[in-house]
Amino acid sequence: MDADEWYYYFDFAGAEVKPRLKKDRTSGMYNWDEKAKPIMHGLFALLDNPHVFDIGCNMALYDHEMSKMGAKVTGIDMNLSFANIYKQYVEEYLGEEFEVEIAETDVVKSIPAFANTGVNIVTMFCVIYHLEPHASYVVEQCLRYFPNLKYMVVQGNAPRVKKKNQPLGGHKGITKFLQRHGFKTSVYYKDYQKPIVVGSLG
Ligand SMILES: C[S@@+](CC[C@H](N)C(=O)[O-])C[C@H]1O[C@@H](n2cnc3c(N)ncnc32)[C@H](O)[C@@H]1O
Repeated sequence: MDADEWYYYFDFAGAEVKPRLKKDRTSGMYNWDEKAKPIMHGLFALLDNPHVFDIGCNMALYDHEMSKMGAKVTGIDMNLSFANIYKQYVEEYLGEEFEVEIAETDVVKSIPAFANTGVNIVTMFCVIYHLEPHASYVVEQCLRYFPNLKYMVVQGNAPRVKKKNQPLGGHKGITKFLQRHGFKTSVYYKDYQKPIVVGSLG
């Protein structure tokens, strides 16, 4: 695998992948530490047994971080080759437990297989616009098969609204979308390139 195929910069103990994105504060660990982590920390505090279903987990970097925060995490992606390498690094090099359950599957086809597993948070970090034209169907499936669902956390990528005509890249499109599916919404980091909208039920 070519290091350039990675989605963002990561430093594997001196072996850097995607070095050209090293200073990009909108992705990888920067985006996690500064933007996504505080939100997930707040949501975990509201739930007795947080169980995250992370759609499009890629290398499962955020999933491992969420499991270290005490959540149960199921990460799915169509391609787990990056996550498998990261898992091996965590376990064999760092000597840490990698407690995330990862599954290689297309979310459009596979949500019923995870039914009734106690999932109460669904996350999609920079993924929802990739699911079109099936994004609504995926959310309907989450609502149907995850009876404990309380929160849906969706991170966009605002330049995609204009550049790629993808309304689900921006906070306004994501907000309307989640409200259409019955969620109350809160927007975080409206002016950041990758705003986050949290949908809540009940
Ligand atoms: C831009 S990356 C986001 C990575 C990760 N969520 C993050 O922010 O660190 C989008 C990921 O979604 C995955 N993906 C796209 N469509 C998918 C689908 N239908 N089912 C499962 N994964 C999908 C891709 O394989 C890719 O890893």
